[in-house]
Amino acid sequence: MKKVVVYPGTFDPLTNGHLEIIKRASKIFDEVIVLVAKRDEKNTLFSLEERVDIVKRCVSDITNVKVDKLEKLLVDYLREHKINLVLRGLRSNKDFEYEREMFEANKIMLKGIETIFIIAAPHTAFISSSLIKEIAFNGGDISQFVPKEVKKRLSEKLRR
Ligand code: COA
Repeated sequence: MKKVVVYPGTFDPLTNGHLEIIKRASKIFDEVIVLVAKRDEKNTLFSLEERVDIVKRCVSDITNVKVDKLEKLLVDYLREHKINLVLRGLRSNKDFEYEREMFEANKIMLKGIETIFIIAAPHTAFISSSLIKEIAFNGGDISQFVPKEVKKRLSEKLRR
């Protein structure tokens, strides 16, 4: 049976940290679906459509990676698509506590769901989308932290 995993997140915007997790997962699973969550409560810089488009462009060379939107509970998406594997990246102990809560809540809401964690590479462990935006908005160079597409899209936002 095909092993399909979903990798949910806000991706506002996608960073090299996320990309590193996606690339490693693509070598383990038959298919990786990057699920871009709507997350109205996060007041995102990029719209859902923009975030999906950015991720699509950044993973276009990895054949077994797909991108989809998440506009409902994760467990409802999984139920609808008959998927039971979730992937999350772990950067630090801080991530672990938060992940444990989501893991437990999701497990109660959907029986049979399993979450797989990939520990982020040390050189990406400090990266977050907020940090990238802060550096960019203050005129810093983000080339080492994000794909070229993201750098371009952030510069466009800054010009507006
Ligand atoms: N590299 C770089 N940054 C990383 C990273 C990595 N490997 N892993 C996490 N991050 C950063 C993100 O950039 C983000 O940074 P920010 O807060 O500065 O924007 C932060 O860590 C949070 O990561 P993210 O993956 O975006 O998680 P999230 O908490 O925003 O997303 C969802 C959580 C989307 C998976 C969760 O809210 C969800 O499932 N929502 C759908 C609704 C639902 O089912 N809710 C109930 C859940 S129990």
